[in-house]
Formats: sequence, structure tokens, C-alpha cells
Amino acid sequence: MEVIYPGSFDPITFGHLDVLERATNLFDKVIITIAVNTRKNAIFTPDERIILIRESIREKPFAHKVDIRKFTGLLVDFAHQNKLKTLIRGVRQFSDYEYEFRMALMNRKLGKDIDTIFLMPSEHLTFVSGSLVREIAYWGGDVSHFVPANVAEALKNKYG
Ligand code: PNS
Repeated sequence: MEVIYPGSFDPITFGHLDVLERATNLFDKVIITIAVNTRKNAIFTPDERIILIRESIREKPFAHKVDIRKFTGLLVDFAHQNKLKTLIRGVRQFSDYEYEFRMALMNRKLGKDIDTIFLMPSEHLTFVSGSLVREIAYWGGDVSHFVPANVAEALKNKYG
């Protein structure tokens, strides 16, 4: 079975990689779908994010089970166009739930056949988020505990 793992991935973190690995243990193929959202101020372009993800998983034993794509528009439309029905979302803590719950139910409203599966990353990663990583990197802090080395390097180059 193939599933979609959607998100901004700006940039990919150890939290994403943890959820991704869990998803590859459960499904045959995980399609990382990067939302191209012109209303969000992203620091990496969608193509840069694809490269960062590809480099981050290159050595992983589950790499062959992962596809990376980008999409514009509604996620349910991407799912339907690709004949996919299942979304994976990582939920770190209770506060994530409200937003994730609304999004999952809305996606199911927009596409009756679309269901969301929530996966929890390892507890030591529950506080890692793309936005905090961006802020730490912006102020020159050490992000090496939260993102792969290639991402830390790319952040340094962006903000350096
Ligand atoms: O990593 P993020 O930013 O939490 O991911 C959010 C994402 C990209 C999954 C969500 O914003 C999304 O699906 N955007 C595409 C547009 C869409 O379908 N919006 C309706 C969601 S109910």
C-alpha cells in the first residue's frame, strides 16, 4: 500500500525522519509530498527541500521505499490525481492535535475516501519543529541535534 506523507518540510528535521521511518515500516511506499504554498514564507525553495530530503535519506535502509514530490493546491486533489487515499501526519504532542484533527476531518470532508493516520515520533523529538529550527539557525544557534548534517549546513549557508 502507498501513502502520502505531506508537509512543508522547510526544512526536514529528525522528527520528520523518525515519522518517515515508522511509515516505511508499515507501508510499501511513502510519498513525501511537499506543499508549494505561495502564502507561506519558506526559506528553502521546493526543489531545495527535495534535494535536502533526498540527501538526508540516501544512506537509510528505507530510502528505496520513499518517493519525493511537490504539489500545489489541495492535498485531496493531489491524492485523487495519484489514486492515493491515505495521509500520514506526525503528531508530537497534545497541542498538535487540535490543528491535525481539524485538518484530517476537513480533508475527509473534501474527499470522502481520504483518511489520515497519525504517527508519533520518538519522545525525545517531541519538541523539534521546522519553525524552531529556522529560528535557532537564524540566530546562529546549533541545530545539529535537530536536523541532519546536510540540512544544518544548508541552513548555515542560508543565514550565514
Ligand atoms: O508541515 P505542515 O506545514 O504542517 O504541513 C501542512 C500541509 C502542507 C500538510 C497543509 O497545509 C496542506 O495540506 N496544504 C495543502 C493545501 C490544502 O489541502 N489545505 C487544506 C487542508 S484541510
